[in-house]
Amino acid sequence: MELPFAESYRIKMVEPLRKSSRSEREAWIKDAKYNLFNLKSEQVFVDLLTDSGTGAMSDRQWSEMMIGDESYAGATSYYKLKNAINTITGFPHFLPTHQGRAAENVLFSTLIKKDNLIPGNAHFDTTKGHIEWRKAIAVDCTIDEASNTTLEHPFKGNIDLQKLEKVFKENPKERIPMVIITVTCNTSGGQPVSMENIKAVSEMARKYGIKVIFDAARFAENAYFIKNREAGYQDKSIREIVLEMFSYGDGMTMSSKKDAIVNMGGFIALRDESLFREASTFNIMFEGFITYGGMSGRDMNAVAQGLYEGTEYDTLDTRIKQVAYLGSLLREAGVPLQMPFGGHAIFVDAKRFLPNLPKEQFAAQTLAIELYLEGGVRTVEIGAILADRDPVTRENRYPKLELVRLAIPRRTYTNNHMAYVAASIINVWERRNSITTGYTITREAPIMRHFTVELDKI
Ligand code: F0G
Repeated sequence: MELPFAESYRIKMVEPLRKSSRSEREAWIKDAKYNLFNLKSEQVFVDLLTDSGTGAMSDRQWSEMMIGDESYAGATSYYKLKNAINTITGFPHFLPTHQGRAAENVLFSTLIKKDNLIPGNAHFDTTKGHIEWRKAIAVDCTIDEASNTTLEHPFKGNIDLQKLEKVFKENPKERIPMVIITVTCNTSGGQPVSMENIKAVSEMARKYGIKVIFDAARFAENAYFIKNREAGYQDKSIREIVLEMFSYGDGMTMSSKKDAIVNMGGFIALRDESLFREASTFNIMFEGFITYGGMSGRDMNAVAQGLYEGTEYDTLDTRIKQVAYLGSLLREAGVPLQMPFGGHAIFVDAKRFLPNLPKEQFAAQTLAIELYLEGGVRTVEIGAILADRDPVTRENRYPKLELVRLAIPRRTYTNNHMAYVAASIINVWERRNSITTGYTITREAPIMRHFTVELDKI
């Protein structure tokens, strides 16, 4: 008999969870103004809001925490992390930051000016926020296949080379400080970018004299998909694939809260020393001295150890198969999903789940609220609320995809939790025809509104 799949770890410490009743949840979500970010974590049974900073550290990471060096300058922890980043990414220079968006802030302060164009594959919201805040424009060049959720395509995070070349051709290179490749592409459904595409983007960018920067939060998951889906990579290790991916870029911003499996942390890694020096000034201003930049020594140690663990095949195999397990349960029940399953999350297609809700009533948010009411499962809307208003016209932007993301924290929940989540969603799926009205916004911030938005039932 073929041996079944089993996790590549065992559990040494547990955290109790409390179930709640539907009537409790009805009161709590109303108090939260129908924004799931406003719920207290004790009001949630299975928390799939994000896979960011919510993973379980290993015993080895915790032991690294004990030997952190908290010196202001030149800490051994800094050198340990520098060495890990250099070994895994190949980039010689690095700046620690307290999380991914801080890395964006520092690097973009160095590189982005007003009216610049930043092409890429479906920029993440903080990335887009940092671009638009500088009065520059994020140009989405993702392949069209990504917005057809039923289409099976192995690399739905890919950049459309024609769209990219159009931006390069029609604008002076001074206006385009970089192209950003997000691996995996969170916004398009945790979908990977192929090595072939990374290479082609890099060659095109070089031809036009433009930098390639990776938004690398889930780079190891991207490498796992390359190994399993792209010809020629089956026999390569994750580390070899990662090194090749980054060899096509000039640098990266990293949220260590994802594939480095820590609760807080980020960094910038760069090839060019003069760019590193320029960025260092902003790092000192916004984050801290260049050898700690917003992180304590113990946290840098945990990131270093987490980078090694996060790029082990078995760690990735356990994780991505758990995500796929949840996906298969939902798929068998006919729930409409972004296919194929993502690396860090399953994305439910809310437009196809609730086809009769007008777009002004926010189908994905409506569905996320229903899932919470059903089973105390917290998810997040990746749709019109997250898409914000157009910075110029101030009109609501309605993206092609209205998704509910079920993001799975690393090494945190068991497959029984996944079965529970699936049952909650399937119950809502079975009563979907009874959901005929959605929500309206009563209060919103001018940018990145989804975190603090307040809503009311229509
Ligand atoms: N880039 C990507 C692709 C991300 O997914 C995130 C965060 C960031 C950058 C910013 O990093 O949170 O450390 O400041 N994504 C989280 C999520 C918040 O839930 O997907 P950060």
